[in-house]
Amino acid sequence: MHARAAAATTAALLGTGALVLPSTAGAQAPADTAVAAPAAHKNPTVVAHRGASAYAPENTLAAIDKAAHMGFRWVENDVQRTKDGVLVIVHDDTLKRTTNVEKVFPGRAPWKVKDFTAAEIAKLDAGSWFGPRYKGARVPTLTQYMKRVSRNHQSLILEIKKPELYPGIERDTLRVLRKTGWLDRHHVKNKLVVQSFSADSVKKVHAQRPDIKTGFLGTPSTAQLPAYAKFADQINSTHTSISAGYVSAIHRLKGPHGKRLEIFTWTVDETAAARRAEGFGVNGIISNKPDVVRRAISD
Ligand code: G3P
Ligand code: CA
Repeated sequence: MHARAAAATTAALLGTGALVLPSTAGAQAPADTAVAAPAAHKNPTVVAHRGASAYAPENTLAAIDKAAHMGFRWVENDVQRTKDGVLVIVHDDTLKRTTNVEKVFPGRAPWKVKDFTAAEIAKLDAGSWFGPRYKGARVPTLTQYMKRVSRNHQSLILEIKKPELYPGIERDTLRVLRKTGWLDRHHVKNKLVVQSFSADSVKKVHAQRPDIKTGFLGTPSTAQLPAYAKFADQINSTHTSISAGYVSAIHRLKGPHGKRLEIFTWTVDETAAARRAEGFGVNGIISNKPDVVRRAISD
């Protein structure tokens, strides 16, 4: 999105009304939320994006298993909702790209996730598009997925995808997280972040469960960061949109839990980009090729 359009969207979401253009990186934050600049963050957490999605079909159990086998504790995945109200792990708002839905349900274009029941989605092959060895992989429900993340002893950044299509998805998501044991103190404190491109959705999660760590996906201007720091613990920006100054501006603020605001940057799949982000002092790097990032930052 163009910077001016992105700023306008952000302003609208925050309810500020006024268009605030991104300020220069490193601009001073207001004194009430600002803290002294920390030393640059070391050893960013590497997160397997949509599972280890360069090596296994994204958002499947195989992709988080692959991440686990590669030694990655943190995974990121996307949640949406079916026609009959079941939460499923899938990135696009249609099933076309990552399943054989066109073949199984030829008359149902444009194959929106929200137009299919969970039973229908369970029939789809979500692996063959990626490679024959993954034939038969399914679109997991959030419940199935949380059980597998638990079994793998992994931690999770869960993205609420396109919440505007699914009114109430925040409450539904929290219900499944609670039922699968993910809202106890241990999980909330150490193993879970809920993020979204929608500030409104992040605010809802924060209002409903203020103890949960949250992330806003985007690159608000430095002047806007204090407003986001009221409901988001992380600002998770594209790696191409950030600078050392921007990362410092984030780290100078405290989030809703009184800890320094963090930044997990995405999607970093190359050595040079990983080293650049590490040099900026980011807290986390989200990657389809987490092994490439791990190698880059450990050299
Ligand atoms: O976690 C960052 C990233 O997942 C956001 O973008 O489109 O891959 O869900 P996308
Ligand atoms: Ca995502």
